[in-house]
Amino acid sequence: MCGIFGIVTKETQNLGPILVGAGERLSYRGYDTVGAATIPQEGKIDLRKDAGRVQEVAEKYKFLEMSGDRAILQLRWATFGAPSKLNSQPHLDSDGDLVGAHNGNVVNNVELREEFTAEGMTVRSENDGESCVHAVERYYDQGHEMVEAIRMATHDLEGDYSFVIGKVGEDRLYAIKMGSGLVAGIEEDLTCIGSDLPSILPITRNILRLYDGEIITFWSGGYEITSVVDGSSIERDPEIAEDSMEAAQKGGYDHFMLKEIHEQSQVAGELLHLLDNSKDLNLFLNKLKDARNIYVIACGTSFHAGLLGSVYFNQFAGKAVIPVLAPQFTAQYGSSVGPEDVGIFISQSGETKDVLNAIEVAAEQSMGILGLVNVVGSTLTLVSEVYLPLTCGYEISVPATKTYTNQVLTLLYLALSLGGYKTSVLDDIPSMMDRTLDEVSKQIDPVVDKLIDWDDLYILGYGLTYPVALEGALKLKEITYTHCEGILSTEFKHGPLSAVSEGYPVIFTAGPDDIPLIISGINEVTCRGGHVIAIGFQDSRLEGNAQETIIIPIIDVPEEYRSAILALLSVIPLQLLSYRCSLSRGYDPDFPRNLSKTLTVD
Ligand code: AGP
Repeated sequence: MCGIFGIVTKETQNLGPILVGAGERLSYRGYDTVGAATIPQEGKIDLRKDAGRVQEVAEKYKFLEMSGDRAILQLRWATFGAPSKLNSQPHLDSDGDLVGAHNGNVVNNVELREEFTAEGMTVRSENDGESCVHAVERYYDQGHEMVEAIRMATHDLEGDYSFVIGKVGEDRLYAIKMGSGLVAGIEEDLTCIGSDLPSILPITRNILRLYDGEIITFWSGGYEITSVVDGSSIERDPEIAEDSMEAAQKGGYDHFMLKEIHEQSQVAGELLHLLDNSKDLNLFLNKLKDARNIYVIACGTSFHAGLLGSVYFNQFAGKAVIPVLAPQFTAQYGSSVGPEDVGIFISQSGETKDVLNAIEVAAEQSMGILGLVNVVGSTLTLVSEVYLPLTCGYEISVPATKTYTNQVLTLLYLALSLGGYKTSVLDDIPSMMDRTLDEVSKQIDPVVDKLIDWDDLYILGYGLTYPVALEGALKLKEITYTHCEGILSTEFKHGPLSAVSEGYPVIFTAGPDDIPLIISGINEVTCRGGHVIAIGFQDSRLEGNAQETIIIPIIDVPEEYRSAILALLSVIPLQLLSYRCSLSRGYDPDFPRNLSKTLTVD
């Protein structure tokens, strides 16, 4: 996730404060690099950019002094190319009279850069935003008008993206929406575009919604929309945005957590695109193939993803992967690992101190270091031999949701690839996630009512759903402040069963292959007066034995993948349940007490 902004004004003016303001509002979408450009009628484009946060880069390059009547700005959340000055956006075309910036991922970036170079274009960075500019340059230089050149460029650019682009000597800018956010704002003496509503709301409330497959050409006070499909023109009037700034930032959701739960399908789709086209994937897989022992090392939610991944590796690749909580790595394996072994270090932030400590020990022992990480440019990306980005964009709420599901999806993708299975079986995961979210959100409220009076409960899982039970329990305790323990269902009878009294809540996450075993576990609880809530596919045995069920819609995939995919989906009802329980207790799920999003301390 990155942020773009573009503006055309009636007269030349000091655009610096507008650019810096938009940059600050967009900074939640990316803070690896920042750049701004003003585009003159004659002469050179004024392009200022570098790695760093918006305030630092703006101050260093004096953004506040930038003036003109057309400008674009970009904030980058790095995916292609390290967060460096060279990879910062906006980018120029070969002769420097076109400038553009994008948001999203162009997944065939590496191949395109090779083609552009072979065609004699000047490619300066590794960043996929530059590919958008050269793709337009390619067709503009063949004699096509700008809008037509942009339309043709879409045939070359694979992925989900939007971009804004402008040319010296004109009075207008162009922007296109192809899967990533884009909205326009229209005033009498200016027109602007931004990646989201909050970026333009303080400038105008007269907004124009744009849809995928649309190009907007905009000039001071006016615009034209063109369809990418057939080049026809589309009529649409602006509307008045009523949203408050805070509501707009949350995209219409009450909390960032809920927004991020709903973003899971979109970021899963982007991740799959990226993995299908990733050059680093093979490097990663080769390291795993050659390893003597593979460890998966992480904390909190990331550890739960790793634990589920280790089951996937066993089931699909016949590979033992040893899961270990990062702070326990040194004590348990520190002196036994060596250069033949590989660690997959998983972290949303890439900065968790417990994980970095384990990496230090792994490096001393010359162990291979692989990363799965959301924040590109973080320490984990710098110390990994190879890393795969999670492509979730900024996760604001402290409880991790979309980063967990993309960690699990990456591990499933790796396990299938290593085992020689086709990963195309995962292509429908985004729509399965949406269906699950739709269906389970209607079933959650009665369960919330049951849990309201209890400050103590268990979530049980078995096999593939054991890590899901741990993750669900972590979510619940993190944002409801109740004691909720996740354990292996068969362990319940070895001690915790004594906690069960009349009405005591126990949640079972049931995989389709483990129903008979889960039914025994359910009855051990219900015959002692406990109240059981079962989560799983529709199954008369679950419905007949548990007091309540949350049913995940049946998925249409071959039998051998069903349990693995159910495990990925069954965290969604637990995320939603935790969210609603948190609200029912009057807490703010985004910022739970005592916790921090990134734990850079021991
Ligand atoms: C999960 O909701 C938590 N916020 C927490 O457990 C988190 O997963 C853990 O602190 C690890 O963080 P990381 O993924 O950034 O390394």
